[in-house]
Amino acid sequence: MTDRDLLNMAREAAQNAYIPYSRFAVGAALECADGSVFTGCNVENAALGSTICAERTAMVKAVSEGRREFVRMAIYGEGESYCMPCGACRQMMSEFDPRGEMEILCTRSGGRYVSYRLSQLLPHPFET
Ligand code: THU
Repeated sequence: MTDRDLLNMAREAAQNAYIPYSRFAVGAALECADGSVFTGCNVENAALGSTICAERTAMVKAVSEGRREFVRMAIYGEGESYCMPCGACRQMMSEFDPRGEMEILCTRSGGRYVSYRLSQLLPHPFET
């Protein structure tokens, strides 16, 4: 699976975004150690704080299907800036990747993307 394949899956997933409040669609595609891929979109709620991001949707789908080893995640946001994962999503990634080795591909409309390791985006995660 190439980066571009995963990015395309994230872009597809954004089509299911439930975004009546922000109108900002996000899609994520999470590749796990066994090669399986889980996609997700943002799902908003009238109680705005109950909104779930695309990345956390994808992670919850993976974990609930028994996958906890995350390798790579592509994120697609339909904006002019690269769509970076929010703090809550970074912390949740860290829960399953405490060494911060997973790769995070952040794209924007038009197709350009940048790539980071989780440890670059969340250098000092909360741990107990
Ligand atoms: N959002 C995501 O799904 N992922 C991100 O990385 C950042 C923000 C969503 C939440 C909300 O539905 C919309 O984008 C605007 O904040």
